[in-house]
Amino acid sequence: MSDLRFFRTDRIAALAGALALFVAGAAQAADIARGKEKADQVCAACHGKDGNTPIDPTYPRLAGQHDDYLRHALLAYQSEQRKNPIMGAQAKQLSRADIDNLAAYYASLPGQLSHQR
Ligand code: HEC
Repeated sequence: MSDLRFFRTDRIAALAGALALFVAGAAQAADIARGKEKADQVCAACHGKDGNTPIDPTYPRLAGQHDDYLRHALLAYQSEQRKNPIMGAQAKQLSRADIDNLAAYYASLPGQLSHQR
């Protein structure tokens, strides 16, 4: 039966390898706790400790914003595709991991944006 060839040991080894890569990838996924640490140290000064209480009404709320939107915004500031002197300077201090962690952290917070999550 040809279906049984799927269980050949070389295939199993390949699958195990793929699974190991997947798990390793997941281990590098965004770290919300690290995102919070960085946010408390740096971003809270302007965006508020909860991401919802910016120090100036013209500063955006970040809490509950979509993870991919936050990541995109930070990368755009970093590359100067989106120009803002304040956030451009902030974004340039961040590593790619910082950006993933910060985006995951702010996305995890209860927001006051249109969708309550
Ligand atoms: C000195 C004040 C200040 C600090 C510190 C600061 N920000 Fe900002 N942030 C701003 C201002 C002002 C804007 C609005 C800029 C604009 O109009 O593009 C902004 C915008 C943003 C946006 C875009 C939001 C949107 O809705 O498009 C993101 C994301 C963001 N900040 C994340 C962060 C993160 C993460 C940190 C910490 C690493 C941080 N900011 C630190 C002042 C600050």
